[in-house]
Formats: sequence, C-alpha cells, structure tokens
Amino acid sequence: MQEFQITVLHGDGVGPEVCREAIRVLDAVSAKFDIKVKTCEALIGGVAIRETGSPLPDATIAFFEGADAVLLGAVGDPSFDGESPERRPEAGLLQMRQILGGFANLRPSRSYPALAGSSPLRKEIFDGTDLLIVRELLGGLYFGSPRGFQDGGRSAYNTMRYTADEIERVARVAFEAAESRRGKLTSVDKANVLETSQLWRKVVDEVSNDYRNVAVDHLFVDACAMHLVTDPRRFDVILTENLFGDILSDEAAVLTGSLGMLPSATIGGRTDLYEPVHGSAPDIAGTDIANPIGAIASVALMLRHTAKHEGSAVAIERAIDRVLDEGYRTRDISAVGTKVLTTAEMGMLIAEYAVEDEQFLAAAWGV
Ligand code: IPM
Ligand code: MG
Repeated sequence: MQEFQITVLHGDGVGPEVCREAIRVLDAVSAKFDIKVKTCEALIGGVAIRETGSPLPDATIAFFEGADAVLLGAVGDPSFDGESPERRPEAGLLQMRQILGGFANLRPSRSYPALAGSSPLRKEIFDGTDLLIVRELLGGLYFGSPRGFQDGGRSAYNTMRYTADEIERVARVAFEAAESRRGKLTSVDKANVLETSQLWRKVVDEVSNDYRNVAVDHLFVDACAMHLVTDPRRFDVILTENLFGDILSDEAAVLTGSLGMLPSATIGGRTDLYEPVHGSAPDIAGTDIANPIGAIASVALMLRHTAKHEGSAVAIERAIDRVLDEGYRTRDISAVGTKVLTTAEMGMLIAEYAVEDEQFLAAAWGV
C-alpha cells in the first residue's frame, strides 16, 4: 500500500495532549495492520499567532500539499478574546477549512451504555441513540459577506447566504450516509423565518428524488434542539447548515456523556480533515486530564474514510468500547466506582487494546 501522509496540527489548549494520544493509537494500529503512515507537524491557532503573527502561517498551508488528511487537536485561546474575528485563533481554523475544501462535516454521536452514569439525561431517554449530524461547513453565517462593524462599532452585521449548489452537494453526502445507515434523514432549518432555509428545504426535497429509499422529514431547528434531548432515538442522519450544526452537535454530545467523546470528519474537498468536536478547554490544558477519546475516534474515522481501512478503524472503536466497559474513565466521564485515568494513560490503554485482540483481528481482518 502507498504511504499515507498526515499533517498534525496540535493547536491550542488541550489540543497537544489529545493529539499525542491519537497519534499513539494511530502508530500502534498502523504497525499492526502494516499501514505506512508518515506524519508531520505544523502550527495553527493561538500558538501560531504567538510564534508567527498568523493563526494559519504559510508554512502550515505548505504542509497541506501532498497530505492525505489533516488531524487537528483544538483551536481557541481566551487571551485573544476581544480581538477582531480575523485576529483570533479560530480564524486559522476557518481559513484552513476553506483551503482544504471539505464541505461536509460528519459528527456521529451514539450512546455508550457504559457511560449511562455520566450523562445528565436519564438512561431510558438516550439509550440506543445512534445518530450522525451532517453539518454544512463552508457556507452560511460563518463565511457570508458582507460582514463587519459599523457606526463606530455600535452596530454589527453578518450575512447568511447559501446557493442551491452548496446545499445540494452536502445533501448528497447526507443521503448517501442515510442509505448506508437506517435510511432516515431529518433536514433541519428555520424555514418559517429564513429565506436561506426555504431554499434549503426545496433543494433537499429535490435531491431526495434521487434517494427514494431514504425517508425524509424536515424539522425547525428549535424543535430539533428539543427532540435531541427528549427523544434522540428518532434521529438517524441530521442534515443541517453550518451554525445550526455547530450548536446541535454540542447538544448531541450530552447523549454520549461528554463532549470529549465526539469525533468528526470533514470530507468532500481536496484534503480530508479530522478533529474532535470539543474545543481547546483552556481551563484544563496541560493537566493531563482531558479526554482523548474524541481525538482517538477521529483517527478511526480517518482510517475508515481516507485510508479506506475498515479493519483498523473497527479495532480502535472496539478498544474504546472495551476500556469503557471495563470501567476506565477520564475525569469528565467518571462516576462512582470507575477507574479514573490521565489523558496519557487512557491513550496508552486504547493503543494496547486496539492491537491486543489477536483472535478478533485474525478472524475479521487476517492480521
Ligand atoms: C466547532 C467549533 C468551531 C466552529 C469554532 C472553534 C470556530 O465550535 O468545530 O464546532 O464553530 O466551527
Ligand atoms: Mg462547535
């Protein structure tokens, strides 16, 4: 197999800690499955601003050339609060998303029975939840122009804009995902108020003609937010625009027990991007207590979607299930009677379990 090249961007806060564990697990499974991986590291976010003056330095952009995938830790640093949007660490992330071109951000969220005690929701509500949010990532309020301040900073505006093409391409990703899952797609909008949402609904209905085996329904975003915590099992694939997807995916995280559990994959562009859904969590940065599972599960998605290596992805996902079943936790998901591990200990244990199950690996994948 040809060499698989990954650019690793640790970023800010807990980013370096969780990335280190994700790479540890990647190294372990790639050795076991004989996948040739080459990684290089580059700067993004607040740490990049401090070192180079830019949240996405040219040297980092140069590393995207030839990369098969980018793995990102997290971006965000409160010491830049109050700076204008283009001077903040997040600007590096948004610019990178544009350069890499991935418009479909996949955010799976499922309940882990072992974590029932860590969710604020009752088990009977979220048990058995298994949903995928497909978030449009390159349009809407995040990128629409014009935008800015006026009246001496006392008035501000952003533009929400979508073209039919932008909606169609992400809708197709969501329909295809629904076809390979349980055949249900919920499109989320605010069509009772916004023109962009009316267009969204129309295009989704048009695209649905090509996917007759997928059942489609439309929900307003406020109702969706409610159903997510009252009846999450009703969802299979949720398709939505950029800002709604940002908000709903954090909400969906409570179904798993912690935001630290959720991985994401951004596909459809020149280079695929993988990142945990959580942010930089500056309050716990450097203390070795962050949950690396979101980052590690992002590596599993990378192996599945970009390297097309299902066996190694499943090995990682099984290892995550096993540590949880055996009662190992990071602090964010700890509960009475569980064994609390540091970030590094959790990474080491998952790396070990991912390659240890000889019987499974031999029977299922011939390694
Ligand atoms: C996310 C994050 C980012 C976003 C921030 C850091 C810009 O919240 O990936 O969900 O809003 O897209
Ligand atoms: Mg977010």
